[in-house]
Amino acid sequence: MSVQGAAFFPQEDEIQEQVWTEVDAYTVSHLHPSTKPNSAALINALRYSNEQGLPDIASYPVIAKFYALQCRALRVKHALELGTLGGYTSIFLASENPDLRVTTIEVDPHHRDVAQRNLEQAGVADRVTIRLGAGLNVLPQVGKDIASGKLPRLGFVYIDADKQNNWNYLDQVIDMCESGAVIFVDNIVRGGRLVDPSHRKSPGVIGARRVVENVGRDVRVDGMVLQTVGEKGYDGVLMVVVK
Ligand SMILES: C[S@@+](CC[C@H](N)C(=O)[O-])C[C@H]1O[C@@H](n2cnc3c(N)ncnc32)[C@H](O)[C@@H]1O
Repeated sequence: MSVQGAAFFPQEDEIQEQVWTEVDAYTVSHLHPSTKPNSAALINALRYSNEQGLPDIASYPVIAKFYALQCRALRVKHALELGTLGGYTSIFLASENPDLRVTTIEVDPHHRDVAQRNLEQAGVADRVTIRLGAGLNVLPQVGKDIASGKLPRLGFVYIDADKQNNWNYLDQVIDMCESGAVIFVDNIVRGGRLVDPSHRKSPGVIGARRVVENVGRDVRVDGMVLQTVGEKGYDGVLMVVVK
């Protein structure tokens, strides 16, 4: 998700962001050049999402590929995403991992429709299933399908929907995961707002602090926050590993 600017650290100004963007452009041009088999599909997915009026809040290539590589390194068979948007990260995960099944949950029917079309165009619709509905309503159904053996346990989870429910999602998915599964929660740092007292009442910051603090207390998991900079500003992800 895009987080422009560095609210808490105003000295991290536009020039700095320009450098981060240039570094991303340089590294992506070598590590994920336009000759990669999924590059056109990813660009087309963003273009169609934009044409259809979706907000520009998909993960950017560096982060989405980082997640796809996590799935590959861990040989994940089933990944879950909360917050599909136009399917950008789902396409990255599935197209980089031919044996991976992705379940992705989206509350907005228009986003779901755009994502479904993007998945079909990218040739991964047979392995990516969008479930329409609010995350908290849909997750128990996914849990049932995992418990009954209809779906494999989760090896990777990406939480990127309504930030107030970060902890509620994480709390529920832990029991659906295999031991060693990784869970990433996006937009934890948001330009430093995580620790900015003037943002303490913002629902997003409350959601970020709650998940960090609860993970620190929870014996089922271990975690750490990784701060990130790049083309979408200064932010960070919470990485959690299920024991
Ligand atoms: C930041 S975007 C997701 C971007 C996507 N993960 C990617 O990287 O391509 C957040 C999405 O979560 C969806 N969303 C918001 N609240 C939700 C909820 N309660 N349940 C499921 N999805 C929700 C929004 O409609 C939006 O499409």
